[in-house]
Amino acid sequence: YPVFGVGCDAECALMVTHPDGNMSLEMVVADVSREEQPDAQLTTITMKDKVYPFEVKVVYKAYKKMDVIETWSEIVHQEKKPVTLNIFSSGYLPIRQGNVWISHLHGTWGAEGTMTTEPLHPGMTVIKNKDGVRNSHTSHSEVMISLDGKPQENEGRIIGAALCWSGNYKLRLDTEGSRYHDFFAGINEEASAYRLEPKEVFTTPELALTYSKEGLSGASRNFHRWGRNTHIAHGNKTHDILLNSWEGVYFNVNQKVMDQMMGDIASMGGELFVMDDGWFGDKYKRNIDTAALGDWVVDKAKLPGGIADLVAAAKKHNVKFGIWIEPEMTNIYSELYEKHPDWIVCPPNRTAKPGRGRTQLVLDLSNPKVQDFIFGVVDNLMTENPEIAYIKWDANMNIINYGSSFLTGDKQSHLYIDFHRGFEKVCQRIRAKYPDLAIQACASGGGRANYGVMPYFDEFWVSDNTDALQRIYMQWGTSYFFPAVAMASHVSAAPNHQTGRILPLKFRFDVAMTGRLGMEIQPKNMTDDEKAFAKKAIASYKEIRPVIQMGDLYRLISPYDKKGVASLMYCSPEKEKAVFFAYKLEHFVNQVVPRFRMAGLDPNKKYRIEELNRTGNRPLSVEGKSFSGSFLMNEGIELYLMREYASCVLKLTEVR
Ligand code: GLA
Repeated sequence: YPVFGVGCDAECALMVTHPDGNMSLEMVVADVSREEQPDAQLTTITMKDKVYPFEVKVVYKAYKKMDVIETWSEIVHQEKKPVTLNIFSSGYLPIRQGNVWISHLHGTWGAEGTMTTEPLHPGMTVIKNKDGVRNSHTSHSEVMISLDGKPQENEGRIIGAALCWSGNYKLRLDTEGSRYHDFFAGINEEASAYRLEPKEVFTTPELALTYSKEGLSGASRNFHRWGRNTHIAHGNKTHDILLNSWEGVYFNVNQKVMDQMMGDIASMGGELFVMDDGWFGDKYKRNIDTAALGDWVVDKAKLPGGIADLVAAAKKHNVKFGIWIEPEMTNIYSELYEKHPDWIVCPPNRTAKPGRGRTQLVLDLSNPKVQDFIFGVVDNLMTENPEIAYIKWDANMNIINYGSSFLTGDKQSHLYIDFHRGFEKVCQRIRAKYPDLAIQACASGGGRANYGVMPYFDEFWVSDNTDALQRIYMQWGTSYFFPAVAMASHVSAAPNHQTGRILPLKFRFDVAMTGRLGMEIQPKNMTDDEKAFAKKAIASYKEIRPVIQMGDLYRLISPYDKKGVASLMYCSPEKEKAVFFAYKLEHFVNQVVPRFRMAGLDPNKKYRIEELNRTGNRPLSVEGKSFSGSFLMNEGIELYLMREYASCVLKLTEVR
């Protein structure tokens, strides 16, 4: 944990300014302690400054049954006045130079989770975010580092790192003259100098580290197991198949249409209906995105019977009911903003520039009154309608006006951090009172795919882009760090609303089924044949759901390798069941498609193959036949995916 000030000529993990202006630290180890916890061993290294009453604990939490070590630091002092923290990383890791490559995610709205893989060059590599609210639209705070050149999916040594923080972050990889790439990860310190009061403990977010000799997929499986067990709400419970109203009707929700959609998803075998944006507002109505955020009362013109009638309709159709909110936000046109203009994030003495709809503003979560209000949004909904089973929690704006009317002048630079501490406090209160509620983290699509929020959320919306072809790429990247159970993946209309692409319904299902399956479409516009296909696919998904959502992921052929195909599979931990997926991404005459060699099976077991979601009458040559795991993994199978957007789902079951 390199510190700044004495004998330091490189990047550091910690840089402070003492009250007397001295900017140096010189730490010596004062104590090393070990503590056994039920699931982990905690090692704490306490370091004290040689001169100043300043202390840092570096903590390592090594899980017993999972190949993950979390590390973080706890900073405290007993100086007379506040010490300013200028850089405060969660952890540091030296990585021996060699043929070291990095894989990381980047993106934008509609193209989240896009992957880049590159060798580490001399100089600084910085991956960071400064959105203020959502931190994974652009880059991600997770990386894979390959120690054996260009990374492979199922072989080679990989170090994975994931910072568990919902706000701005910075990952630095410094490659200087030494033999090491110096890796630092932590909260982004830009505009975030933190004045630490005497005796106040500043705990940095956890940095989760993993290591695998089984390639990128191996490191992913480590993260998935750890995530499901420790960092995702209800990560060990399978999730419901749902219909969300957004792409089906957008803001045009009303009692009749909601009832119809519930009936349709129920008849196709779905388990949950989620009413999206558009249901609220009294003085200002939520008919478009310019008004009413903050006014969380039912629009009586659209829903005369209120939420109670919707809950009753859901009961009638035998599906659960869920609802959309965006509680951290308001609009200029809202009763909330009229009443509390000082509750927004905005520098004092200035006028805020609005976001979405040219009217949206972010509420100041550093303010405890705002925290109470946001908790109240959920608490009121749940108190009045305890049957609500699912909440989609959206966040469609970033912090573009830096400043707080709540924070004092000397603590304005705490806003980026205190916003997220406030957010976490609200989440903790919600979870304490509503432990069973399912909550989705949505943030203009995939803006909140991070392990800072996931302990409180069951899943995240991968992207507002539901085009199944682009989703193959986005879900591929996102699956590096997050398990299928957390990745909400919906079948939507053709032509797709974001890209205009027309894809077969089978392809759309075959892609959505690799995550938490849902639909986001107006079923009324589907033909009877399409509904019948959807019904069968949903029934099949129920069969394979435990393998997908709780199983081990083996990515086989990457879409990024441009072989015209992509393929992946999930295996149950006992390896008696597996599900294989293959997709044709583009098609040319005389194109050579590789054989599909599987992974993750037991070489000595025999597996029977059954195709799911088959269209047409011709069974595959492997249909109903049994093969050894060894054959499937070493020789593989031929699949003649003879046209663009052909796809294939195979269920493998052990033959005893
Ligand atoms: C965001 C979300 C969408 C939808 C809309 C509603 O864009 O990502 O899924 O909920 O808001 O306004």
